[in-house]
Amino acid sequence: MDPIIQGQGSNELFQAQSHLYKHILGFISPMSLKCAVQLGIPDIINNHGKAITLSELISALDIHPTKAGFIHRLMRLLVHNGFFVSTNHVCQNQEEQEEEEAYDLTPSSRLLLKDKIPCLSPFLMSMLHPALINPWHSLGNWFRREEEITPFESAHGMSFWGYGDNNSDFGKLFNQAMASDSGMMNLVVKDCKPVFEGLSSLVDVGGGTGTICKIITEAFPHLKCTVLDQPHVVANLPETENLKFIGGDMFQDIPSADSILLKWMLHAWSDENCVKVLKKCRGAIPSNGRGKVMIIDIVINKEKDEHEVSEGKLYFDLLMMVAVTGKERTEKDWEKLFLEAGFTHYKITPLFGLKSLIEPRTKARADAVVKVLAICDQVGPTQGSWSSYGQRKV
Ligand SMILES: C[S@@+](CC[C@H](N)C(=O)[O-])C[C@H]1O[C@@H](n2cnc3c(N)ncnc32)[C@H](O)[C@@H]1O
Repeated sequence: MDPIIQGQGSNELFQAQSHLYKHILGFISPMSLKCAVQLGIPDIINNHGKAITLSELISALDIHPTKAGFIHRLMRLLVHNGFFVSTNHVCQNQEEQEEEEAYDLTPSSRLLLKDKIPCLSPFLMSMLHPALINPWHSLGNWFRREEEITPFESAHGMSFWGYGDNNSDFGKLFNQAMASDSGMMNLVVKDCKPVFEGLSSLVDVGGGTGTICKIITEAFPHLKCTVLDQPHVVANLPETENLKFIGGDMFQDIPSADSILLKWMLHAWSDENCVKVLKKCRGAIPSNGRGKVMIIDIVINKEKDEHEVSEGKLYFDLLMMVAVTGKERTEKDWEKLFLEAGFTHYKITPLFGLKSLIEPRTKARADAVVKVLAICDQVGPTQGSWSSYGQRKV
């Protein structure tokens, strides 16, 4: 027998086997959830208005009668993984009382309801699209090769962004996925009044189809927002008085504005490219300290984050490695980028689930903030929200 195995008790080895099997078969959880969305199960339960029994669910589903007997097995796993809850429903059948399992939504499956905001179903369908799953099969080979292209590019012969441009179904689905994630911002933007105070214009760099800008302009109608994205992403999108779209390339030109927003952008790019974009952002805002750059992105913080949050961030990190040329960053990594791009200060506010609001600042902006702080000290109560500002000086 192998000496490594000899040294361990059988209990420990079986535990290790369970641990391995759980992770080896881990793909079954998201794939089963995808199937539930394809079958419309969250909406069927929601439209039912209360917990739905197994037989009611089966009759509401558009499935072949030969598959009816399999639904309880799909639901058993989805309940186990927290996507639905099950209760025992007592029904009166002639003289007998019978118990039947009934299913209801959980907060996670509520986020998958069609036509609701936020609805993360497009995000699920996009992340589990074969185009994004296939490159993982050759990740081992990618590590062995010298080439600089991403595993996505090895698999598809073009970059992730080029693939979205050339495969309009996938491109549309990805844009919907991003818009669905931005829909979550609806929950917090109204509470971010101080963040937008004093600003009159904003450019959302890589802002996709403009979901977050729509949310911002609804909450703060005085702000004029412009979305800069690739020409095919913003082509023919309807504009309003406060919301304009520009097709362009952020590496070439970023239009001037009081504020620049980069939501879930920089994590998709290498350090070198992020520094280029951040320098362009710095050049696009007023140099007198009135402008600001706002980044909404992931900050890896394994010491402070709960296990599930850390796990989510680490999954995104590898996704960025496989699909694009980016990575998820620690506070130190962000600090390095800001320093190289000519910013002198930054502030990180963990606000949005996996994401934080990250505000790099120049010396001029920092001095302006100090002046505001001095006024606040004389006038009253807001200084608390700024107190960590100086501690994060680069
Ligand atoms: C990860 S998505 C983020 C979308 C949006 N900010 C959000 O959070 O919903 C990245 C966006 O960057 C855009 N993009 C990629 N390369 C770009 C470039 N060179 N210039 C401008 N936008 C670009 C993509 O089209 C895509 O909409």
